[in-house]
Amino acid sequence: MPRLLLLFAHPALEKSRIHKRLIRELKSIPQVTFHDLYEAYPDFNIDIATEQQLLLSHDIIAFQHPFYWYSAPAIIKQWMDLVLEHGWAYGSEGRMLEGKKALNIISSGGPRHVYAPEGRNRFTYRQFLAPFEQSVRLCKMDYLPPFVVPGTHRMEQQDLETFAALYRQALILLTAGNAPTDPGAELLNDQLTSSGILTH
Ligand SMILES: Cc1cc2nc3c(=O)[nH]c(=O)nc-3n(C[C@H](O)[C@H](O)[C@H](O)COP(=O)(O)O)c2cc1C
Repeated sequence: MPRLLLLFAHPALEKSRIHKRLIRELKSIPQVTFHDLYEAYPDFNIDIATEQQLLLSHDIIAFQHPFYWYSAPAIIKQWMDLVLEHGWAYGSEGRMLEGKKALNIISSGGPRHVYAPEGRNRFTYRQFLAPFEQSVRLCKMDYLPPFVVPGTHRMEQQDLETFAALYRQALILLTAGNAPTDPGAELLNDQLTSSGILTH
């Protein structure tokens, strides 16, 4: 069964509503390793060897974070800059991550409809996440569609519970070896159904 490394980045978890709720689901999914980067590295002094070892012992890498300035909180960038070394992760000799899968799990204050060419933010989630997708590909991994919790600014508790259930379903399917077969899909959300089956 695939093991999933969840690289979690929230700089103010004590103020979080969405991610605090989502990660409660992880307790019952043993295939997931929860790794809180801000907790592990409050001074941003990332231990490269430890991080590379963690990557090697997992099959799926998930970057979970709130959407900040159409991207990720700063520690994710620091992690990528330091851990994904030339000759290890990429380059002609860098093949250590080859064949693994990676995805983003994000929440956004803006609702889904503003993430469209005709919407206020002009670009789709996947377009904003292009640096992740291409970095993952450069490291010879497969990029999976992102899981998104949109519209968090106006989210009712009941909607949050629905997304927590979807999140749980996504992680269970991924760790059961059921990665979506449509890598070009806009969101992983759309491939999940209430019956817990990936639809593509
Ligand atoms: C510094 C900062 C930047 C943000 N940038 C964006 C953004 O670019 N797009 C967006 O939709 N929401 C943005 N937001 C809203 C957050 O994504 C939202 O508050 C978060 O997903 C809620 O999750 P939480 O309750 O776990 O904190 C931003 C919030 C902060 C604090």
